[in-house]
Amino acid sequence: MSRARAAIILAAGWGVRMKSDLPKVLHAMGGRPLIDWSLALAARLNCARTIVVIAADAEPVAARVRAALGEVAVQDPPRGTGDAARAAERAIEGFEGDVVVYFGDTPLIRAETLEQMFAARAGVDIVMLGFRPVDPTGYGRILRDGAGNFLRNVEHKDASEAERRETLCNAGALVADKGKLFELLAKLTDQNAQREFYLTDVPGLAHAAGGKVAIVEASETEVLGVNSRAQLAQAEAAFQHRARTEAMAGGVTLIDPPSVFFSYDTRIVADVTIEPNVFFGPGVNIAKAARIKAFSHIEGAEIGEGAQVGPFARLRPGAKLGARVKIGNFVEVKNATFGEKAQASHLAYIGDASIGARANLGAGTITCNYDGFAKYRTEIGEDAFIGSDTALVAPVKLGARVTTGAGSVITKDVPDGAFAVARGRQRNIEGWSDSSRAKKQTHKDAKP
Ligand code: UD1
Ligand code: CA
Repeated sequence: MSRARAAIILAAGWGVRMKSDLPKVLHAMGGRPLIDWSLALAARLNCARTIVVIAADAEPVAARVRAALGEVAVQDPPRGTGDAARAAERAIEGFEGDVVVYFGDTPLIRAETLEQMFAARAGVDIVMLGFRPVDPTGYGRILRDGAGNFLRNVEHKDASEAERRETLCNAGALVADKGKLFELLAKLTDQNAQREFYLTDVPGLAHAAGGKVAIVEASETEVLGVNSRAQLAQAEAAFQHRARTEAMAGGVTLIDPPSVFFSYDTRIVADVTIEPNVFFGPGVNIAKAARIKAFSHIEGAEIGEGAQVGPFARLRPGAKLGARVKIGNFVEVKNATFGEKAQASHLAYIGDASIGARANLGAGTITCNYDGFAKYRTEIGEDAFIGSDTALVAPVKLGARVTTGAGSVITKDVPDGAFAVARGRQRNIEGWSDSSRAKKQTHKDAKP
């Protein structure tokens, strides 16, 4: 039987290099804050307990941790990664089993890699995560003897020239038995260049006491740490690459993969086609054989089987499109349901509405859903035909098979099968234009 697991996530650094009013771990990758990525990882590993170590002034981070049913431990003041792990001791009291410690600013670590670390724990005291960066400058080095056995870690700032030539670096994550981990953490000192308690000294202490240390290696991309806006952009690029690769492996056609942007939870099934330059915010679900045409911006939307969206469409949260719905260019949809085969093909705003099956909304159809204070709903029945440039002043209900005249401002409900027109009646004045032009021309010719 596998041992119980807990996660300790270190996130007490504010991240000064981000130059932000926001704590670093609240910045987003793939539409989700970094801290949520770390919390989701602990959940995927089936951790019975998840403790996030935060700074004293990071209440917004604490709120997100609690929302994900994690526990918060405060490190005040921050005195290094070892000191941070120690700050979780009270919170983790009562837990027995394996603990994984990782950083809250490395959002690309995969559950598979940490599973490998848990698996490597058998017969070993500490499992570390290592990687070989293209440029190791700044990272802690993992030092081993000639036979490849682990000796100790050394931080870049404490390392000699010879030690700095080592290319195997410490990624920061570590797995150990809880009792063992806190026994070793208690022995840390801050006798180093940074006067900090280093978590990275724990494996060395284990080795010195006759314990065994194993190393699992990850790719540099996977353990990329976000310390600056430039690294946040790098992490985003790595996430997007991963998401595009997974979408295509799942049977989605991306005509130009680098120009399609996904969120952490974008769900698209096989045989969907995505044209170039499409952005998916969080909460998008797309059914079979749908086509998303170029330059569309989509978030919080459900798109039914065989539906067509775009080019240049905007679907906002609460947009629900049934099967074979068509949403064309320059159409914005928010909190609105479209029944099967309904369509709005050009230039429309449809908000807080329900549109019946097969209804056709003409160019320029606008739901006037907001009076400056509250939002109101518009209902349109099946097979309705809404004339071009119809303004629907909500709350308003149009029945099945209703037709509206182009340019109408509809303020009253319309019964099933009726025609509604609400605009000034046209009047033609014979000869008016010709005589008016003639007068103006005479006036112009008379000028010197
Ligand atoms: C750390 C490792 C280094 C490794 C590198 C990989 C140590 C001593 N060094 O260095 O070996 O190569 O990561 O990226 O562990 N944190 C706290 N409290 C603190 C200090 C840090 O919670 O007092 C958190 C930070 O919020 C961050 C993480 O720990 O999420 C790592 O801290 P950071 O200062 O970035 O460590 P590095 O110097 O990069
Ligand atoms: Ca770092």
